[in-house]
Amino acid sequence: MNFEEKKFPEGFLWGGATAANQIEGGWNEDGKGVSDADICTGGSHTQNKRITPVLEEGTLYPSHEAIDHYHRYQEDIALFAEMGFKVYRFSIAWTRIFPTGEESEPNEVGLQFYENVIDECLKYNIEPLITISHFEMPYALTEKYNGWAGRRVIDLFIKYCEVIFKRYKGKVKYWLTFNEINCATMPQGNLQGTGILNEGSVDFMNQVDDPQVRYQALHHQFVASAKAVKLGHAIDENYQIGCMLANFTSYPLTPNPVDVLENQKAMRISNHLCGDIQVRGAYPSFSKRYFAENGITIEKAPEDDEILASGTVDYYAFSYYTSFCQTTDPEKLATGNVFGGAANPYLKANDWGWQIDPSGLRFALNEIYDRYNIPLMVVENGMGAFDKVEADGSINDDYRIDYVKQHIVAMREAILDGVDLIGYTPWGCIDLVSLSTGEMAKRYGFIYVDKHDDGSGTLERKRKKSFFWYKDVITTNGANI
Ligand code: BG6
Repeated sequence: MNFEEKKFPEGFLWGGATAANQIEGGWNEDGKGVSDADICTGGSHTQNKRITPVLEEGTLYPSHEAIDHYHRYQEDIALFAEMGFKVYRFSIAWTRIFPTGEESEPNEVGLQFYENVIDECLKYNIEPLITISHFEMPYALTEKYNGWAGRRVIDLFIKYCEVIFKRYKGKVKYWLTFNEINCATMPQGNLQGTGILNEGSVDFMNQVDDPQVRYQALHHQFVASAKAVKLGHAIDENYQIGCMLANFTSYPLTPNPVDVLENQKAMRISNHLCGDIQVRGAYPSFSKRYFAENGITIEKAPEDDEILASGTVDYYAFSYYTSFCQTTDPEKLATGNVFGGAANPYLKANDWGWQIDPSGLRFALNEIYDRYNIPLMVVENGMGAFDKVEADGSINDDYRIDYVKQHIVAMREAILDGVDLIGYTPWGCIDLVSLSTGEMAKRYGFIYVDKHDDGSGTLERKRKKSFFWYKDVITTNGANI
């Protein structure tokens, strides 16, 4: 290996990532059912999103129009192609295919929509990478089964998988089962991750939580994911089906051994629990004590262990935005960033308090690869920021270029360290609705969308400075960064 070589491996999958409920809009068009995302209001950094199963007159629901990709996907994919994308990660809204999840026949218009999106990608030699479930499910299943808490949802999900695996056979190679499945190890993972809506849950960031129910729902997702992997391989042996985790890299805040142990505990539950089950095919030994101490009993069907063992994933995909510090000192914890944990005194943060740590990405890539030894993909990364449109229409997002550049350098170093990294799809390659806050103002895109938090805007797309920069990165396969 040439350690001076700045390029990425031949065939490296450069691209971008989005999710249906954050870009499509058309929330009730062409037979689409209501999803959990459709009942969440807008919010902001200081005002949390609300969950309102009964839609309120005069309240803004960002997923209802989003950036109107449903009607503009051709224009958007043409822009991705102009940047030279090799891959485009997007998700399918389950509710476009099975509006309530329980129909026996799929909705043809929904299936055709995604086939059009796929064909549009293929027209430009862009590899589609599909997330089957990205933080939404039919609201009808939340109402009836409390989301994934009900075991019945496994079969309904597999029915949905079978339909899309068969329909897109020969056109799609890369799939992901559940987006950031490990978010369900945290209370915010209730509605967004597992479709659980406990009585009294209104505030999206402070949902009523029952860890027993949440972990049972997560178990059902593990089983569903493993079954989907098996089924996908049976339908098309070329399918590459991955897991997708939010990477929660954390460091001990101090070298005090109690902080080191605290950090190990956090990393185990937030990262390794889900990774071990989906890659190694079994619950890790440390989970027993964690469940016992937290009063959690996982109810398993007799066949579950065998299903988990035989449905392990082909590659490990993850999102990486920030890192964390762990400590046993409660005072330090209180000053921590949005995800919990303590702030790292060595790092700066973006306007939403997410600390910027490119070295953490190199660390994460090495840790994950050492642990699992299967191909890795970074399927989300990026800088949420306020962008300003200048009088001449330009958007000079040097801060974003700087962020992405540093993370690309970190990935290159990890590859030189020996990691088998096969792709990079920065998040929100086109501006979209923020998941955590429901804002448009928190922008990640290389493409600006004229849409604002009050719902106003022409929806016009504009190339930011980072658009041209990223295009050059891709054209030179990472040599020019
Ligand atoms: C990930 C999700 O957690 O982070 C995306 O998979 C989300 O759906 C992204 O949008 C960025 O988070 P946010 O809250 O800034 O939109």
